[in-house]
Amino acid sequence: MNTRAPLPLIDPFARPIRYLRVSVTDRCDFRCTYCMAEQMQFLPKKDLLTLEELDRLASTFIGLGVEKLRITGGEPLVRRGIMTFFQGMSRHLESGALKELTLTTNGSQLARFADDLAACGVKRINVSLDTLEPGKFAEITRWGKLEPVLEGIRAATQAGIRVKINTVALKGFNEAELFSLVEWCGGEGHDLTFIEVMPMGEMGEELRLDQYWALSDLRGRLAERFSLEDLDENSGGPARYVRLRETGQKIGFITPLTHNFCESCNRVRVTCTGELYMCLGQEDRADLRAPLRASAEDAALVEAIRAAIARKPKGHDFDYSRAHVAGQMPRHMSHTGG
Ligand code: 5AD
Ligand code: SF4
Repeated sequence: MNTRAPLPLIDPFARPIRYLRVSVTDRCDFRCTYCMAEQMQFLPKKDLLTLEELDRLASTFIGLGVEKLRITGGEPLVRRGIMTFFQGMSRHLESGALKELTLTTNGSQLARFADDLAACGVKRINVSLDTLEPGKFAEITRWGKLEPVLEGIRAATQAGIRVKINTVALKGFNEAELFSLVEWCGGEGHDLTFIEVMPMGEMGEELRLDQYWALSDLRGRLAERFSLEDLDENSGGPARYVRLRETGQKIGFITPLTHNFCESCNRVRVTCTGELYMCLGQEDRADLRAPLRASAEDAALVEAIRAAIARKPKGHDFDYSRAHVAGQMPRHMSHTGG
C-alpha cells in the first residue's frame, strides 16, 4: 500500500468527486411503472460484479477520496449476500476514510435487514414510497405490497436509522395525497423529498409525460397551507429544501429537469456491471470491469477511473420543454441506480 495520500479525484470543472453511488443489482422485487417494464430482461449473472469485485471497486474509490457511498439498485437488498458487502464497507467507516454509508431502498426487505444495516454503521437511508394507500401502492409498484414496507420503515427507525422518504410526484396519482404524506412523515419523524419524474427508460415515455407533475406546482399547493421558508442547504446534489414554518418540517425537492444543479455535482455512479457514469444525463461511461478483472493489482483500475473523471461533463441535457423529450436517456433508472 502506498502510504502517501493519493491525489483526490478532481474533474475538469474543479469539482472534487466525494460521492459514489454503486448499483449492486439491476433486479427488483417491484415493477414501478415509471421505472421498469413489467417484463424486464435482467443481466446474466456473469456480467455482474461479484461481491468481492464490488468491495474492491468501492474501496479503490474510497482510497481516491470518496467519502460518501450510497448503495442502490434495482433494489439493493434483493442482491444475495449483500450484507457481506455492507460489513466489508463498515471497515472504511471505522478507519474514518468513509464518512457515510447509506442506501436507497424500496423497503420491502428492510424488516429483515434493518438491524444488520445499523450494525454496519448505516445511519440514514432513503426509502422510496409514493403513496400510503395500499391499492395505489400495488398499482404503481405492480408487484409490491405496502404493509411490509411500512413494517420495514418501522424496523429501521427502531434500529436507530433515520429514514428519508422519497416520493415521485405523479400527476393524477398521488396529487391528492400531498398533505397526508407530509403529515405522516411529520408524525413519524421522517424527512420527505419529492422527486420530479424523469424521462428514463425506452418505454412508456408518453405515460410519464402524462404523469409529469412539476414540483413548482406541488410547491405552490404546499404554500396554500403552510408558510414555506427556503433553506440554503445544499448537499452538492439536486435537492432544494424548504421548512414548513407551522410544523418545522423540512421538505426536499428534486427537480433535475428544471433546476440546474450541475455546477456543484460531486458524484459519479457505477452500475452493477462496473460501468462508471460520470453524469446521470449523459451516455458517456467507462468500463471498470475489464481493468478489475484483468489484474489483481489496482493500478489499471485507478488509471481507468482517473481517465474517466477527466472527461466528466459539465452537465446534463434533459429538457421537457421541447416537443420531443430531448436528452431522454435510453436506459432505465434501475440500470444506473437513481
Ligand atoms: N423518475 C424519477 N424518479 C425515479 N425513480 C425511478 N425511476 C424514476 C423516474 N423515471 C426513483 C425511485 C427511487 C429512486 C431509486 O429512483 O422512485 O426513489
Ligand atoms: Fe424497484 Fe425502485 Fe424501480 Fe420501483 S423505482 S421498480 S422499487 S428500482
